[in-house]
Amino acid sequence: MSICFRPGLERAFGTFPLKGEELISTFGEAYNVGYRAFDTAQMYENEADVGAAISRHAIKREELFITTKVHPDNYSSDRFLKSVEGSLEKLGLFRVDLLLLHWPDTSGDNRGILELLREAKREGLTEAIGVSNFTARMMKEAQALLDGEVVINQVEFHPLLDQTVLLEASFESGVPLSSFSSVARGAVFRYPDFEQIGETYGKTAAQVVLRWILQKGVTINTMSTKPENIKANFDVMDFVLSSVDMKRIDAFTTTNYRCVDSSKVPWAPEWD
Ligand SMILES: NC(=O)c1ccc[n+]([C@@H]2O[C@H](COP(=O)([O-])OP(=O)(O)OC[C@H]3O[C@@H](n4cnc5c(N)ncnc54)[C@H](OP(=O)(O)O)[C@@H]3O)[C@@H](O)[C@H]2O)c1
Repeated sequence: MSICFRPGLERAFGTFPLKGEELISTFGEAYNVGYRAFDTAQMYENEADVGAAISRHAIKREELFITTKVHPDNYSSDRFLKSVEGSLEKLGLFRVDLLLLHWPDTSGDNRGILELLREAKREGLTEAIGVSNFTARMMKEAQALLDGEVVINQVEFHPLLDQTVLLEASFESGVPLSSFSSVARGAVFRYPDFEQIGETYGKTAAQVVLRWILQKGVTINTMSTKPENIKANFDVMDFVLSSVDMKRIDAFTTTNYRCVDSSKVPWAPEWD
């Protein structure tokens, strides 16, 4: 079983764009609700705040599953490992549980950065390695190059976006997907259908959306600043969407609404 699919780790708390005291208190809120997996990145400039949250709330290291991601500015042999050591120092950890390449190499050739990622694991800086925002082709190439060591591809995944190609590639390559922008940064709430479906189960629109993602076989990352939403997003394991409702939600993927593309992020590849 991929480490990211250990019970409890299928629901991670994302920390972007939280910082400072807001991150520290929100982190504590999420921990108290039950989250044990937390997602940060060099790019979020909040790794030190995550470290402060762990120590302020006196959380035992072994309870947590911490993911961070290497910034593309550090994709060179002289910067890569040093940057990961810098992340660990900020986080106050000897190693992270999962280290991701935040974006593919803009050249489209990821061999160099994948080797550096593997080196980080060999040096013990991380327990496991993965990628983010990789296309189907890149995901397959990465898994072949790293002999099956890639445990996750973290990508935008929600009901308003058709990720069939990526899901197929995930099954073929054995690289599981993990979602970000799981509620499409609120865009899913424009559609009353999710709330209507939720009424059958006594669940909210957000919970229906998150459950749909899980039932696609994709782990979830969610972020909220509000205690009631933080709790609701975690409380998605006590119901199962019927195949009829899954199909009804599948139909929304033709909307093809993306939160993140090259107009917002310079490293974004040409999506599948
Ligand atoms: N790998 C990557 O390139 C990448 C890119 C983007 C994000 N991420 C990761 O994924 C995490 C989440 O992604 P995201 O922030 O882009 O998108 P998101 O989770 O879809 O959206 C977050 C927004 O949705 C609202 N929200 C969350 N749960 C809600 C609920 N139950 N009911 C109503 N509103 C709700 C939050 O508002 P309130 O605060 O008001 O609840 C917040 O404004 C990030 O924190 C980050 O860790 C990774």
